[in-house]
Amino acid sequence: MTVGIDLIHFSTSDYFLGLDTYAKEKSVDLDKFHIGIGQEKMSIAPPDEDIITLAAKAADPILAQINKDEITAVLFATESGIDQSKSAGAFLHGLLQLPNRCRTVEFKHACYAGTAALQMATKMVTANPKEKILVIAADIAKYDIDSSGEATQGCGAVAMLITENPRILSIEPGSGYYTEDVNDFWRPNHRETALVDGKYSTKVYLSSLKHAWDNFVEETGRNFYDIDAFCYHIPFSRMTEKAHKTLIKKVGAKIDDATFKLQTEAGQVYNRIVGNSYSASLYIGFCSFLDNANASLEGKRFGFFSYGSGCVAEFFTGIIQPGYQDLLMADSHRQQIESRQELNYQQYLAFYHSGDTTKENVNYPATNHGKYRLKGIEHHIRQYEKKD
Ligand code: COA
Repeated sequence: MTVGIDLIHFSTSDYFLGLDTYAKEKSVDLDKFHIGIGQEKMSIAPPDEDIITLAAKAADPILAQINKDEITAVLFATESGIDQSKSAGAFLHGLLQLPNRCRTVEFKHACYAGTAALQMATKMVTANPKEKILVIAADIAKYDIDSSGEATQGCGAVAMLITENPRILSIEPGSGYYTEDVNDFWRPNHRETALVDGKYSTKVYLSSLKHAWDNFVEETGRNFYDIDAFCYHIPFSRMTEKAHKTLIKKVGAKIDDATFKLQTEAGQVYNRIVGNSYSASLYIGFCSFLDNANASLEGKRFGFFSYGSGCVAEFFTGIIQPGYQDLLMADSHRQQIESRQELNYQQYLAFYHSGDTTKENVNYPATNHGKYRLKGIEHHIRQYEKKD
């Protein structure tokens, strides 16, 4: 029996800020963003869009294709938590009217949590093949204005259905792990924005990749040449190039430029124009690879490197299943990205400053065009609305 991703779909917000607008506002050379960090646009969430509405938008087309009463668990990964006690999965469960015979739990470790949820779901289905698990990774990346991270904001959610005999990706047993208690990126409870030591974080990311790879090789006996394509966690798309170069150097592989591109490039198309989505980024990168590869990926082995600051990292692999193309939702991905409305810098600032969720009662204007919306807060309880 194989276990893995049966269906996958991602969502992003209805608005973006171009890094051309941003560069002009900050009087910085645009090439720093387009070339230096490899980013062109950042998806920006209006006040009535949060991780729950993004998650519902991501999950909707998956639930439309299955009997949703068969969902046995919702594993929700996020570092943009909306409640210290109630899990984000419980809010989503209500909004999507999922069956009561189901468990929901929230997973947290920075950008790694999506992988923790995915691997947990894989083990749960392996133990009981009747399970059908909805894994969600959803985040809104928000940094202080004028901080180095501001240009790497973004938002998005990925929904993945984990089942036996999956139709898109079977996940192979055997992972490489790495954990170290470091302070490269963190968000204390009282802060809405993350703090990051960006350059240090890049260094820890790359050293974690080397450690996780060593552990992966020990555990599986596989080598670099056994893997056809690589998806790395993408806080900004240039990080993929840095990561792949680091791995190639470490293993002493001989790879020409064309192969380097084939192994990594298709995975960055969406992330360049969506921006960082923390726990969802690796899997939006995977969607990007599936939707934008020039040739069939059937039977190819993908390597995934998941990194969460703080830090936890994992390297694992999976095999693309025959007929996977028929299950892709590329049109929905592209349509969402292309239909976003561009913000000028003042409009971006207005969104940035207007999402105060600390008040007892608040109403948000209808700004998000999607089917699901955060209407407001009543007596400290978030109120969601589904438009029919
Ligand atoms: N043309 C081309 N490249 C340019 C350039 C220009 N005009 N100006 C700068 N660059 C390059 C720099 O040489 C640098 O490249 P390098 O990484 O190969 O050295 C890159 O652009 C970034 O420039 P830098 O001056 O280092 O930018 P910065 O001080 O604003 O920091 C980050 C960049 C990535 C560290 C910052 O955006 C950040 O903190 N991001 C968040 C990181 C994060 O999310 N980490 C979390 C987990 S991984």
